[in-house]
This record gives sequence, C-alpha cells and structure tokens, in this order.
Amino acid sequence: MSDIRVIIDGREVTVPEGTTILEAAKKANVKIPTLCYLKDVGLKGIKHDIGSCRVCVVEVDGKPDFVSSCNTPAENGMVIKTNTPKVLAARKLNLEMLLSDHHLDCTTCPKNGICELQSLCAELNVRAIRPQGEMKSLPIDDSSPSIIRNPNKCILCQRCITACKVLQTVDALELYGNGFDAVVRPKGGIPLIETQCVNCGQCALVCPTGAIVERDDTWKVWEAIADPSKHVVAQTAPSTHVT
Ligand code: FES
Repeated sequence: MSDIRVIIDGREVTVPEGTTILEAAKKANVKIPTLCYLKDVGLKGIKHDIGSCRVCVVEVDGKPDFVSSCNTPAENGMVIKTNTPKVLAARKLNLEMLLSDHHLDCTTCPKNGICELQSLCAELNVRAIRPQGEMKSLPIDDSSPSIIRNPNKCILCQRCITACKVLQTVDALELYGNGFDAVVRPKGGIPLIETQCVNCGQCALVCPTGAIVERDDTWKVWEAIADPSKHVVAQTAPSTHVT
C-alpha cells in the first residue's frame, strides 16, 4: 500500500492510502471532535464507520459539501480545513439536530457529568437548540439485572451494537426502523432480559449518552455468576412492550 500526502490546517502529513481524514488529522496533531465514532476499535481491525452524527465534519478544497472525517478516506493532495467558521457552525448545528428530539433531563440522568453528548455541547458552545423536534416517548427497558436502556436518549450511533456483536460476539442488539422511528433495541423487540445478553456491560461502556447505563448493583450479577447460589432477579417486572 502506498503513502499519500495531505494538508490539514496547513500541516502536511504522510499517511498510508486508505487512512481516514480523522486518522490523518490525529497524525498531524489536529483534533477533530467525534461522537458516533467508536475510538480504538480500528486498532483491533474492527470497522465502525457509521457516520451518523456528522459532528466530525470538515471542509475539503474542491468539494462542495462538508465531509465526515471519521469515514472518509484521505486522498493524495487533499487540502483539508477543520476549524473554519463554516465548519464550526455546521458541527454546532449537527449537535443541535441531535438534541432537538433528545430528552434534556440531564440533571437527573445517570450519565450527568460523564455524558459525551453533554461534554461536546459544552465544548462546542451549544447553548440553545434552534430546531425543536418531536420528542420520542418510548418505554424504558429495565428488565435486565445489569443495565437499563432508555431509547429516548439514543442518538443511533450504534456503538452498542458494534460492542455487543463484534467485540463481545453476543449480538443481542439491532437497529430497527427508519428516520424518526429508528431505534436501537434488543433483537426482535423483546425485553433485554429475554435476549442472549450476558450482562457484560460493554454496551453501557461505549454508549455516549444515557441511553444505556449500568445498574448501580451490576456487581451482584457478577457475584451470582461466580456463585450461582446467589440468585439475581430484575428489580422490576419486564416491560410488556419494548421497542
Ligand atoms: Fe464522524 Fe459521527 S463521528 S459522523
């Protein structure tokens, strides 16, 4: 594989052909914010280039539209700008779009203070949400003894699906539906406790929002696995309808 040269914010960098703009920027010490991108799985040869949030957009000379840097390969001679007023405004608007149907009960959210979406909004100075969209009102799935799934806070980054399917080879989650109705759910729309979920917690670990969080007492699950005499049950009855 041959090397290519690109210029990012005035810095020339040489990278192998096939490198994404985001990876090339990293090599040039240029920071591009990301949200749906699942960091480091590329090091294990796993592709997660969903490109759904468009927080990582950049300008490329000669291209009329912004491109998402996390899933666009750099090309030889590309001149890339990551920090222009137009780029910053586009990123901010893309974040606002994500927030337009997001439940903003941050102060009572278990991810408050450790939420990537919240941190990014602070970093990009998102103060008001201009597009106001319809809010989802989907049932919370608290059937699992280890995690709680709140689909109303999901941004469809699908990191959880990659973690469950590719990293853990469990494959308990799926993307279902289209457009506003799209949702990440347990496969087949059944409560999580009825799936092959093994309570590893990897989905919660990679979730950038409060859509999947660990129960405070997840350790009890592991204790029960180590000692089956300690039986663990869900704290509440499984939801009857889970999307
Ligand atoms: Fe690139 Fe989401 S981080 S599109």
